[in-house]
Amino acid sequence: MNIYTIRNMTATEVKDIATRWAVEEGWNPSPNDAQAFYNTDTNGFFVGLLDNIPIACISAVSYGGTFGFIGFYIVKKEFRGKGYGLKIWNKALEYLDSQNIGLDGVVAQQGNYVKSGFKLAYRNIRYEGLAADVFDNTTSSVPYSKHHFEKLVKYDSTLFPASRTKFLESWVNLTDALTFVSFENDTLNGYATIRKCKVGYKIGPLFADNYDIANSLFISANKFAGEGSIIYLDTPEINLNAVNLAENYGMKKVFETARMYTKEEPTINVNNVYGVTTFELG
Ligand SMILES: CC(C)(COP(=O)(O)OP(=O)(O)OC[C@H]1O[C@@H](n2cnc3c(N)ncnc32)[C@H](O)[C@@H]1OP(=O)(O)O)[C@@H](O)C(=O)NCCC(=O)NCCS
Repeated sequence: MNIYTIRNMTATEVKDIATRWAVEEGWNPSPNDAQAFYNTDTNGFFVGLLDNIPIACISAVSYGGTFGFIGFYIVKKEFRGKGYGLKIWNKALEYLDSQNIGLDGVVAQQGNYVKSGFKLAYRNIRYEGLAADVFDNTTSSVPYSKHHFEKLVKYDSTLFPASRTKFLESWVNLTDALTFVSFENDTLNGYATIRKCKVGYKIGPLFADNYDIANSLFISANKFAGEGSIIYLDTPEINLNAVNLAENYGMKKVFETARMYTKEEPTINVNNVYGVTTFELG
């Protein structure tokens, strides 16, 4: 008889198991994401082992005990359809307990998530394109530096369902990545991070008070990637300005998810969310 056990992942396993399997699913993570993800909630990553061999994983990251996000829900191909997924899924729900839980569900799993009590908020669209070298005549965006951190955390908390200082500490210091911030006088009115992924570069988050600020940050991010590099932007479909931004640069839709929550949809202004941070951690 096979024995199936579920336990917490180590930081190394988040990189070597969850991130590697996410690559196999075509989700195109960055090899550097793992450390930032793990630092956010070291208890929120689980692996399912069949006779001590990893066959399943999931992340259930809690932001300060009030808001959780599920990602990396994967069972190795040859072990699917045998109940192992549902068991590790239930472990994730048990860990996040009564928190409002969000996720970005692939089309094939959305029905299951509804059965598990998740409600659709809106669709997120992954756009793919090529980085352009455009002259920015507004130049409101400058590279992030340490002394911006407090303002960045405060601004981020208005556009993410929970305060995520720990995550951001790692995110603004990622390897092969750069964060840009935008100011009017002394007030931060947008920021964006671009990071190298398995294929090309992903821009996330791209948060901004209006289209022009988003555009300026987007141009800076393009310059970091280098003209002609493949870039990705995951945008909430209901933010028409965000969709316009992607389409104005000739980006094409390549993937979609459903943003779902177990409780009320968090009261953030999605019109200022031009790029989702990640589909794994929200
Ligand atoms: C999604 C995935 C992890 C499910 O794992 P699995 O081991 O194949 O699923 P199980 O065998 O445990 O499913 C058992 C039953 O529970 C259901 N189920 C699975 N996950 C569920 C969930 N999250 N909520 C409700 N029901 C679920 C299944 O539909 C199945 O129902 P059935 O018996 O009526 O057919 C697996 O198919 C996979 O790795 N897919 C590719 C990666 C992916 O797309 N992940 C989701 C990203 S959002």
